[in-house]
Amino acid sequence: MPLLTRRRAADRDATIPCMGNAAEARRSINDEAGGGATGAAAGRGGAATGEGGARTVHLTKVYGTGDMAVRALDDVSVVLPERRFTAIMGPSGAGKSTLMHCVAGLEDATSGKVYVGDQELGALSDRRLTRLRRERIGFVFQAFNLLPTLTARDNILLPMTLAGTSPDREWLDTVVRVLKLGDRLSHRPSEMSGGQQQRVALARALVTRPQIVFADEPTGNLDSRTGAEVLTLLRNAVDDLGQTVAMVTHDPVAAGHADSVVFLADGRIVDVMDAPTPDRVLDRMRGLGDLR
Ligand SMILES: Nc1ncnc2c1ncn2[C@@H]1O[C@H](COP(=O)(O)OP(=O)(O)O)[C@@H](O)[C@H]1O
Ligand SMILES: [Mg+2]
Repeated sequence: MPLLTRRRAADRDATIPCMGNAAEARRSINDEAGGGATGAAAGRGGAATGEGGARTVHLTKVYGTGDMAVRALDDVSVVLPERRFTAIMGPSGAGKSTLMHCVAGLEDATSGKVYVGDQELGALSDRRLTRLRRERIGFVFQAFNLLPTLTARDNILLPMTLAGTSPDREWLDTVVRVLKLGDRLSHRPSEMSGGQQQRVALARALVTRPQIVFADEPTGNLDSRTGAEVLTLLRNAVDDLGQTVAMVTHDPVAAGHADSVVFLADGRIVDVMDAPTPDRVLDRMRGLGDLR
């Protein structure tokens, strides 16, 4: 019964940073952060995710009501540790996008809690939630969500335009260069390929240097070379800029760039893997069925 073995492995892994109950999460984060900053965070709010991380506690999300109800997330407690790159994998409909939307404050929880740093999202007014999203979170949507009337440049700069701030030119240039958007900046989304639109969406999420970047299949429409560069960019954002990254992917090679992989199925966490390699991820995926 391979699945049972996997479930046991998941139980055993419950103390690693990516999953487990709140006390375990606190302990592992404390261990990781080496005291100082985390202790301060715990002192302020009692939640010790750290300023840059996020976590859910018994998060359940139900869409619709009655016969139409869909339990997209079912009692999910997960930690996205600060300064770590977490991949989220699972079959289609497993709840991957819903989890990212809830943690990013784009969807309300039906029950349970979501913390960004030590701030519980459910306790925020709409206005403060909008501000938190704008200032601390970057999101790359599965469907890009670019504004059709704006050029690539204006789409990339939109979060800063809305916030009334100006970009760090050097970082903007780096993002544009790595994402190979230099000759596309004056184009509108309708004049760009899917891959180009995806790179604009990624640039928009990275340009403000948010604490947490959520990316839903960021390499899904890219050729393998550009995809590899995007993954390196995300990896460097974690290692060099101290960003926290959560990425949905179905690609074991992409997941291999992460520090850990959270496996979801039917709205529940079924496994977590630390220090993933493409081979190990592929092996685990076989037990979960088609991961697209
Ligand atoms: N806005 C919505 N309204 C109703 N059902 C939804 C909505 N969004 C997602 N779902 C359902 O919730 C489940 C999880 O969806 P999703 O998070 O998009 O999965 P994944 O990203 O893993 O493919 C699916 O059954 C999906 O049909
Ligand atoms: Mg999805």
